Amino acid sequence: MTKILVTGSRGQLGSDLVIALRQHYGAINVIESGRQAASDHHDSHIYELLDVTDRTQLQHLIQQYQIQTIYHLAGVLSATGEQHPDRCWDVNINGLRNILEAAKSFGLQVFFPSSIAVFGPHTPKLDTPQVTVEDPSTIYGITKVTGELLCHYYAHHFGVDVRSLRLPGIISYSAPPGGGTTDFAVEIFSAALTSGTYTCFVRPDTRLPMMYMPDAIRAILGIMQANAAAIKIRSSYNITAISFSAAELVSEIQKHLPQFICHYVPDFRQTIADSWPAVIDDSKARADWGWQHQYDLAAIVAEMLEKLSGNRKEVEVGALSL
Ligand code: SER
Repeated sequence: MTKILVTGSRGQLGSDLVIALRQHYGAINVIESGRQAASDHHDSHIYELLDVTDRTQLQHLIQQYQIQTIYHLAGVLSATGEQHPDRCWDVNINGLRNILEAAKSFGLQVFFPSSIAVFGPHTPKLDTPQVTVEDPSTIYGITKVTGELLCHYYAHHFGVDVRSLRLPGIISYSAPPGGGTTDFAVEIFSAALTSGTYTCFVRPDTRLPMMYMPDAIRAILGIMQANAAAIKIRSSYNITAISFSAAELVSEIQKHLPQFICHYVPDFRQTIADSWPAVIDDSKARADWGWQHQYDLAAIVAEMLEKLSGNRKEVEVGALSL
């Protein structure tokens, strides 16, 4: 069975992806890793400390567990990246180079998450094509464009089986998002359920491509399990599910929680959001390896509210039983 290493495994994407990988490949075959010590302990779950900028440590781990596939999720997102550009460059570029070098030496398969942040102010905002202007205005976007070019280079020069998706904003309930511009579309749900109000850091008309976590997991597993011949793009595939504005998200939440009020106080993240596309054309992913999304806005909102209020009840019950 394939031995898998997940870097940045305790982030928003990793938390759900690891569960899916364990189900598909067996818990013993999935090695989680991150820069911080894990606070929980489970006998069949393996977690290792790993700083992806440390090439020696990474190679040691790969050899120790005889890793064959890496889901390289460790990275600094767009909003945090603007506050810590050096760290963003170091983790996102040097970390990826270490992964690709290891993949070249040990013949590994790699998943690399790129982003809609590769696009910029001169990119067409609607139906953004697969091949188009990439002029990102954030350091995060610059690292993702460079990362895509590195993936393409290692695939074509060294035969590395690297596969990548330009992920949109991901909406999920298990783990909080980690410093991105699309975080408002996640934070809003717990705010709606707890205080009944939310202060949104982008304008109501801000429309961005988004995806529900179960779709994102299917997309990642889908591209990684596809026949190598079907993967015609080795930089990164455009991928999306739906696009909605902040105001449309609020209206959909208000169908369930009519008292919910959203205030809008745009901050520096508005400029980042304004530089990104509103609607992405992902027809290449659909044609090449059969990508299809399942969740629309109504389904996402209904399930997010249900799961988050379920989680709250579990926490309350847990607290009572102490
Ligand atoms: N969700 C990411 C961010 O906002 C986009 O890749 O930074």
